[in-house]
Amino acid sequence: MSATNQQAFAEHTIALTLNGQTRQLEVQPWTTLLDLLRDQLDLVGTKKGCDHGQCGACTVLRDGKRINACLTLAVMCDGAELTTVEGLASGDVLHPMQQAFIKHDAFQCGYCTPGQICSAVGLANEGRARTDDEIKELMSGNLCRCGAYSNIRAAVEEVLPQMSAAPDQGGRGQ
Ligand code: FES
Ligand code: FES
Repeated sequence: MSATNQQAFAEHTIALTLNGQTRQLEVQPWTTLLDLLRDQLDLVGTKKGCDHGQCGACTVLRDGKRINACLTLAVMCDGAELTTVEGLASGDVLHPMQQAFIKHDAFQCGYCTPGQICSAVGLANEGRARTDDEIKELMSGNLCRCGAYSNIRAAVEEVLPQMSAAPDQGGRGQ
């Protein structure tokens, strides 16, 4: 193997903030953020649905913005501030979006729920959804095979106004 190839296959060191904790990690250049979270860090709240950017189950927050972890290479997250569903609560106090999902019974099997909640927090941070139709459109990247959409929208609709007044950059129930 040439020196150039050896360099390409070598592990890379990245530093990031994950759920409020500074982490230094060794990652392969081809490892996705989703596989890093689930396989290396045991943060399995973030789900793998399609692994192709089509279902939203893997949604996490990067610097307060929602991204698909399956489409993001781990090496691209050097210096980022990441929040997964595990990092939304403050200790025992659930994030308002998590509380609203429970209140509105916004899930059935729950597989899409972590992605739905992270996406909804990101949507609130964007501050551009005002109506039920806008919520429907801007949450359309998160699929729910159980069809819990109306309850999901009810939960999001309840929390958006309070979060839009105080954006939540990294989650953690601020
Ligand atoms: S697993 Fe990432 S979008 Fe489906
Ligand atoms: S609650 Fe089952 S996929 Fe959404």
